Amino acid sequence: MQNEFVLSKQKEFADLKEFIDSVKDTQGILMQTLQKAQDIFGYLPLEVQKFIADETDIPLADIYGVVTFYTQFTVEEKGKHRVGVCLGTACYVKGSQDVMDKLAEELNIKVGQTTEDKMFTLEATRCLGCCGLAPVMTIDEDVYGNIDPKRVPEIIAKYKNQEV
Ligand code: FES
Repeated sequence: MQNEFVLSKQKEFADLKEFIDSVKDTQGILMQTLQKAQDIFGYLPLEVQKFIADETDIPLADIYGVVTFYTQFTVEEKGKHRVGVCLGTACYVKGSQDVMDKLAEELNIKVGQTTEDKMFTLEATRCLGCCGLAPVMTIDEDVYGNIDPKRVPEIIAKYKNQEV
């Protein structure tokens, strides 16, 4: 019997099948397919990995191994907004850990977790190439430089208010 997730994502699975059929005879099919699947679903739950295993004849264990090896893939659903704090050296020495701690407190989650309302996911990032702005935090595509932890509530509130 198909579970609720599969039933609610029929269109997404159909799109993924179409993609797999189009790349079936090409090199590196697994990486391409996982990337596409993550674009479609936003993450790679077990149901999606099983589907890919069935459609490609690649063993599920191999797929799971790749998904958990590469940090670009995630098996957990992400929040609507991805909040990143750069923990690269320049940002770190300028206090990015304090920014991270403040975000964790404000959102009431730890690094790598998603808020219960699925609004925010908190992540640590590597150097973003804008060290002159250290410490740096990002929300989706927006970059915030010279961040003082005191500004965190005000910045987060901006994204919460977009929803109302
Ligand atoms: S170390 Fe943070 S942007 Fe480079």
